[in-house]
Amino acid sequence: MLKKLLSKSKKGKHSLEVNETLINNECVPSHIAIIMDGNGRWAKKRAMPRIAGHHEGMQTVRKISRIADDMGIKVLTLYAFSTENWKRPKSEVDYLMSLPQMFLNSFMPELMERGIRVEMIGDKEGLPTSTKVALNEAMEKTKNNTGLILNFAMNYGSRAEIVKAMKDIMVEVNNGKLTLDEVDETLIDQYLLTSNLPEPDLLIRTSGEVRLSNFMLWQLAYTEFWFTDILWPDFNQETFMEAIQAYQQRNRRYGGLKGE
Ligand code: IPE
Ligand code: IPE
Ligand code: MG
Repeated sequence: MLKKLLSKSKKGKHSLEVNETLINNECVPSHIAIIMDGNGRWAKKRAMPRIAGHHEGMQTVRKISRIADDMGIKVLTLYAFSTENWKRPKSEVDYLMSLPQMFLNSFMPELMERGIRVEMIGDKEGLPTSTKVALNEAMEKTKNNTGLILNFAMNYGSRAEIVKAMKDIMVEVNNGKLTLDEVDETLIDQYLLTSNLPEPDLLIRTSGEVRLSNFMLWQLAYTEFWFTDILWPDFNQETFMEAIQAYQQRNRRYGGLKGE
C-alpha cells in the first residue's frame, strides 16, 4: 500500500501522484513491457461478456500510459494481441481488432498534447485493413513526438519475429551483403522488430499467469520480471508503483558480481 501520496508532476497539468518516499526518481526503468492479461476473467466475474473486459482494459491502457508519461518512462510496450490470439472466437477477435481505432481516435488529442509517439511491433500485414490504417495513421501523426514511446505489440509473436530475422539475415548472407562472421548478437538485434528500442528493464504480467506466452523471448534475456494476481482492468497507479518499487530493489548483475 502506498501510504503517503504526493502530488508530483513534471508536466503540471496532468499531475501524477507518486509516493516520493518509495519511488526513487533516479532509477525509474527506461522501458517497461506489460503482458496485459485477465480481461476475460474480469468480465466473467461480473457476468459480463468478454469484450466488456477488453473495453475496460482499454481504459487501463489510457491510465497507465498517462502515468508512464508523467514519470518520464521512455518506452511502454503493451502486449495487445498475440499471433496465437487468432484462435479465439471470431466475434472476440473482431472486437479486439476494432480497439486500436477506438482507442487511438479518442486518445489522439492527448497523445499530441503530451508528445507521446505511437509505435507497433508485430505482423502489421496480417491485420484487417481498418486496424492497420488506424495504427498507421497514429504512427504517422505522432512520428515527430519526442516523449514516451507507446509501443503496441499487435499480432506479435516472438518466435515468428525471430524466424523472420533469421530468414532476412540468411538472404543477406546468400547474396553476399553479409558474411557469416558478421552475424552476432548486435546484428540479430538489428533485424528484430525492436531494433530501434532499448531492451525492457521491467516486465509486468497481470492476472496470476506466470509465463511469457511468446512475448519478446530474445529481448527479455536480462529483464526483471514482476507478476501480480490483479486482472488488467483492475491494474492501477498503486499496482504500477508497486512494480516499479520492486524493480528498484532488485540487484541487476548481468552474470557479474555487481552490488555483491
Ligand atoms: C488479455 O486478456 C487480452 C488479450 C489476450 C487480448 P484475456 O482476454 O487473455 O483475459 P483472460 O486471460 O481470458 O482472463
Ligand atoms: C497473452 O495473453 C497475450 C496478450 C496479453 C496479448 P493470453 O491470454 O493470450 O496468453 P495465454 O493463452 O494465457 O498463454
Ligand atoms: Mg489471457
